[in-house]
Formats: sequence, C-alpha cells, structure tokens
Amino acid sequence: MNSELDILILAAGLGTRMRSGKAKVLHHLDGRPLITHVCETAANLDPENIFVVVGHQAEEVTAAVNAEFNDPRIKFVRQEKMLGTGDAVASAREALSGRDSRLLVLSGDVPLINEQTLRSLLETPSAATILTVTLHDPTGYGRVIRSEEGKFDRIVEQKDASPDELAVKEINSGIYCFDTGKLFAALSKISNHNAQGEYYLTDVPGILRQEGETVRLFLHNDPLEIEGVNDRRQLAEMETRLRARTIEKLMLDAGVTFTDPSSVYVSSRAVIGRDTVIYQNVTIEGSTTIGENCVIRPGTRISASKVGSSVEIRDNCLIADSTVNDNCVVGPMAQLRGGAEMAENSHVGNFVELKKTRLGKGSKANHLTYLGDATIGEKTNIGAGTITCNYDGTHKHPTTIGDNVKIGSDTMLVAPVIVGDGAATGAGSVVTKDVPANSLVAGVPAKVKKVVAKES
Ligand code: UD1
Ligand code: MG
Repeated sequence: MNSELDILILAAGLGTRMRSGKAKVLHHLDGRPLITHVCETAANLDPENIFVVVGHQAEEVTAAVNAEFNDPRIKFVRQEKMLGTGDAVASAREALSGRDSRLLVLSGDVPLINEQTLRSLLETPSAATILTVTLHDPTGYGRVIRSEEGKFDRIVEQKDASPDELAVKEINSGIYCFDTGKLFAALSKISNHNAQGEYYLTDVPGILRQEGETVRLFLHNDPLEIEGVNDRRQLAEMETRLRARTIEKLMLDAGVTFTDPSSVYVSSRAVIGRDTVIYQNVTIEGSTTIGENCVIRPGTRISASKVGSSVEIRDNCLIADSTVNDNCVVGPMAQLRGGAEMAENSHVGNFVELKKTRLGKGSKANHLTYLGDATIGEKTNIGAGTITCNYDGTHKHPTTIGDNVKIGSDTMLVAPVIVGDGAATGAGSVVTKDVPANSLVAGVPAKVKKVVAKES
C-alpha cells in the first residue's frame, strides 16, 4: 500500500438546488462554512497535501478556507468549467502528477464525515474504496449496485437509474480512496454520455473493476456523517440533528442540564461543565467555554466567550468575545462585547453594556450603564445611568477607575479620564478632569467638593 496520503476536496459546484447567490460550500452549518468542516477533518488525517477544487466563487471559497486555516498543505486547484465531479478531479491532474500516493476524495458538501471513519476507510488497500451507507430514503444519491456475490459492480446516478436501481437503498457517499495513478488513468476514459451530460467521478470505480482492479465497498452505519447538503431543507435538518447530538453528549457525558433541549442551540465546539443548567431559547456559539454550576437563563446568546464556574447569566443577555470569571452575575438584558472582562464576583445588571472594558473583582454596575474602553478596579460601584463618554467623534479614549470608588448615578465620565482609588462622584456629575484619590467631585463640570478620606 502507498504510505503517502493526499486529499482532494470537491468544492467547485454552485449548488443550484440551494437557490442561492452564494456557493453551496459557503453556507453555514454549526456556525461555520460547510467547506471548513471538511478541511478540518482532512487536516487531522495528516496528509501530505490537501487540494481544494474551486470554481464557482473561487475567491470567496478560498478566502473562507484561509480565514480559518493557515496550513501550507492546503492548496487550491481551479476547475474552469463545472463539467461534473469527474472533471473536477481531473483539474488536479497536473498538481498530482507523479505522486505515488493514495488519494482520499472528499466532498465539500458532506460536512460531518468523521475522522475515525476515514481512517478505517484508508486501512484497506485497493484501486478504489467507496464509502457507502444504507438510507431509508436514498432519493437524490447515486446508488451502489452490487453483483450477485455482493461485490461492487457500478454506481448509477439517480437521474440515470432504472426503477429497479432506484429501489436500491445503498448509496454512494461521494467519499472514496483511490490509488492516485490508477484513478487518473481511469479518469481519461470516462465520458459525459448520461442524463446530466456531466463527467461523473462515479464512473471511475466501474471502469477500474472492468479492468480487473480491486474495488471495495466500505459500508458505514451512520447516515448523519455521510449525508450531503444539496438544498436548504437538508441543511436545516442536518443542523437540527447535529445540534441534538451535541446536546445529548453534553447531557450524557458532561452532566449539563437542559430544561428544553429542542429550543437550545449549542455549537459542537462549545465546552460546558457539569451541573450547569441551561434554560430554553439559549444560543451558545463558537468555541465558547462555560464552567461548572452555572445557570444560563432564557433568551441569552453567548458567542466565542469564556464563562467561569458558578456564574449566573440572567434572561436575555448577549455576551460576545468576552470573559466572565467565577461567581459573577450578569443581566438580565446586559451586553458584553469586544473583549469585555468581568473579574470574579463582579455584577453587571439590567441595560448595562460593557465594551472592551475590565470590571474588577467584586465591582458592580447594576443599572442602565455604558462602560466602553474602561478599566475599573476592585469593589467599585458604578451608579445607575453612568456613561463613559469614550468617543469624541473621531477617536476612542480610555477611562480608568480605581478601587473602592463610588460613581454616583447619572455620572458622565468624559474620556480620557482617571478616577483615583476611594474617590466618589455626585449624582449627575460631568467629569471632565482626573479625580484625585479619596475625593468627592460633583457638578457640571465636576469639581472637588471635599476629601472623603486621607490618602494613606
Ligand atoms: C454526488 C455523486 C453521487 C453521490 C453524492 C453524495 C457524482 C456524479 N455523483 O452527487 O453519486 O451519491 O455526490 O453526496 O459524483 N463539484 C465540483 N465540480 C463540478 C461538480 C461538482 O467541484 O463540476 C463538487 C460540488 O461542489 C460538491 C461535490 O462536487 O461539493 C458533489 O457535487 P454535487 O453536484 O453535489 O453531486 P451530487 O449530485 O450530490
Ligand atoms: Mg451533493
């Protein structure tokens, strides 16, 4: 058996059945373009090369792959005219010429194929091995026709199949492992004399068999891994089933409680600790991590964020690209974004927004507040209606607030500005100048009224 492995991913088609202006492989599943799922699985198999065949919206597909992967093994091959899957593979002929390798062919629209399944597929040496599955409803797929002895005979596409062939439930997954040299030799012999006038890759195994080569069938038992996305209904169904599988794993393996699993979306990349309770209509996106013993109340969305343990996130919050440490309370109706961070035991309440702001240990901003580009110390209280005026119309400016500060209700902090430790602002202050430590300022513009405690 050739030891070296190359991988080819077919991703040049438009996907007419999607009825979309966007190439099929750019549609999202589990929050990421279909093509990136396949590229990730391919990369995990340690191949020498990964060729992605691009055609329709080649630049966009290339950009989507490059946005997630910085992998020199991934190369792009251009299919000029989309003449079928056989023609798509043929466009990599030059790139693969002289390679004494096995070529694993994957489809950009079969996103959930499992790495372990592919490793098993690669174990059997042959001119071609075809990954197949038996489907209750095989409509649309190429059917795998076996000989009387149960060996591979040929693949027949749905549109070319006779009624008897249409009744066959074993389908071609579109995933194959070929001997690279034998594949390209056979590929020169396929024609486009079929119902779709296309060059079918599916004709290659039949040609190899006729030439006396070994063609194996690898019958797999998990349809979800093998199903393709050809229209939006299939995409939605796959999303639903993938989500159900992710949530089931979190319940059974990780010990997470879901009060209403069917209404919750959780990314398959999320990690959630045990005894965390997730209520209805919660969305958890990207590589979010959530610790143990948290409560996530209804209507909240958490995206690409890190949440510690024993955190309560109340109803209808949005937390994106941010960090919430242990024992914090967030919400209801709060927003954290742009790398916001809440240190342990801090609280953010209703209608509070934190942007690129760090709220220190034990500090609180409980009502109606905007904190942007701010660094806030420990045990500080931000009164209701406080605003960091961080934008002068051209530039953003920072606000720094020390430890044990009391910002009075409705304070405007006109950045750049520093409020020293132990200081306080009166209700309605407009703070335009730095506030010395341990002093009380008030008024518009705010002036020092008294020193509240001696600096030590
Ligand atoms: C293909 C198989 C079918 C199999 C099914 C599994 C053929 C002829 N048929 O059908 O037997 O059951 O996959 O999902 O191969 N592509 C290109 N260039 C082209 C045409 C397609 O790169 O000229 C790419 C598409 O972007 C897609 C993949 O190849 O990622 C499969 O193409 P698609 O049109 O979806 O083929 P199916 O009809 O699903
Ligand atoms: Mg398809």
